Amino acid sequence: MRPKSITFRLTLFFSTASTAVLIVTGYLIGALVEAHFEQLDLDELSGKLELVRYNLAEVRTPAAMEVLPEKLSDAMVGHHGLSVAVVGTGSKPLFETPGAVFPAALLKSRPPEESSARERPVVWQQDGQGYRGIAAAASTGIAGQAPVIVAVAVNTEHHRLFMQAFHQRLWLAIAASIALTALLGWIAARRGLAPVRDLTRLTQRISASSLDERLPQSVPPELIDLATAFNDMLARLEGSFRRLSDFSSDLAHELRTPVSNLMTQTQVALSQTRSADQYREVLYSNLEEYERLARMIADMLFLAKADNGLIVPSSEPVDLPAEVRDLFAFYEALAEEHGVSLVVAGAGSIPGDRLMIRRALSNLLSNAIRHTPRGGSVTVLIEQRASGEIGLCVENPGEDIAPEHLPRLFDRFYRVDPSRHKASSEGAGLGLAITKSIVEAHKGTIRIESTNGLTRFDITFTEADT
Ligand SMILES: Nc1ncnc2c1ncn2[C@@H]1O[C@H](COP(=O)(O)OP(=O)(O)OP(=O)(O)O)[C@@H](O)[C@H]1O
Ligand SMILES: [Mg+2]
Repeated sequence: MRPKSITFRLTLFFSTASTAVLIVTGYLIGALVEAHFEQLDLDELSGKLELVRYNLAEVRTPAAMEVLPEKLSDAMVGHHGLSVAVVGTGSKPLFETPGAVFPAALLKSRPPEESSARERPVVWQQDGQGYRGIAAAASTGIAGQAPVIVAVAVNTEHHRLFMQAFHQRLWLAIAASIALTALLGWIAARRGLAPVRDLTRLTQRISASSLDERLPQSVPPELIDLATAFNDMLARLEGSFRRLSDFSSDLAHELRTPVSNLMTQTQVALSQTRSADQYREVLYSNLEEYERLARMIADMLFLAKADNGLIVPSSEPVDLPAEVRDLFAFYEALAEEHGVSLVVAGAGSIPGDRLMIRRALSNLLSNAIRHTPRGGSVTVLIEQRASGEIGLCVENPGEDIAPEHLPRLFDRFYRVDPSRHKASSEGAGLGLAITKSIVEAHKGTIRIESTNGLTRFDITFTEADT
């Protein structure tokens, strides 16, 4: 399944969070307004309770008690929605305004003598109307008379209606806010992701012909890693791409020399009639050129296969000193010609492909012999290294290779001295590339050092790997 868009996810997250916050806020506001009304009612009820109490305290004779209802009725004139009841001992009603019927529980319970209003009003419904009431004990001015209970209540219907309308508007506003924040969230997410789109646009512009372009580093911090990783990738691609195109132009170059040699020789041979011996000579010379070409093509083929992972070495035990000695026998003549002695020391064997390893070592040895000054010696040192590694070192005295050449020495067709380029006796510059491929196919590494008149190729094979 395709992952959801980031804009969608951010919008969803943003609107969910704001919905939760707004709903909680809505409930809080509702509760606060409700509490405020309750407090208002309570204040009013307490005031009225005090008024009735005051009137009761004024009653000092039973006769005065008779006119109490009248006095109270007068006092309550104009207070719509207010109900008062005064109940004497044994639930005997002493006074009652029309309207509210107080719940028995409110009248019966006997609050402590001096208690004023109850802490929380009692709420009840009657005939579809809401009431809120409190009750308290009160003493009359008649000595020895038991205290009576005074209950007052307000009709809360208008509050209820107000709250209803208020809630309706509140939740409507909240719903609108939710929709608005979702919209704002969407806009914010889209705007926030604009740098990503910019980056995409810049990336789309890059093609094989503009691999030197880089993404700007002036991007938001979150994208810096991405831009850097992308630029690093471009750098690697550019490197590979350049090597590849250098390689094909080198290849054309390398093939042109032997082919033009062949053409010139053939044209010269054909320019006049020659003896059979002369023709034979030309053919021999051509054959040498053909062999060079064939070798180069075979080397190229080997490298192309290695690039595609098609070089799979077999795994037989290879006794390294024995192979080196065999190769020394092969190179004896060349070494003698150059006045170079060959030395091998150490012992060790690795699992690997005998023929390939021979080829790799042979390339190193032929180079070393060629670059050793007369009287010098080429030394091959084989040693057991720590943690199951076997090292093989081919070392020869000679002029140091300048450090700027070292990293490129294993590149195809790379030769240190370009003036030798034309000499047909020189190699094509593929030897070290092949050696490196073979070593890597054996999961080994090869390094080169050239200091103080000593050039040393150092191979490390891992024993444990096979
Ligand atoms: N032991 C060494 N001492 C000094 N320079 C070396 C040594 N080995 C290699 N080189 C330099 O590295 C270059 C590349 O070596 P490489 O073996 O790849 O190519 P080549 O010997 O020129 O040709 P090929 O091996 O294909 O016949 C050589 O041209 C040479 O300049
Ligand atoms: Mg070579």
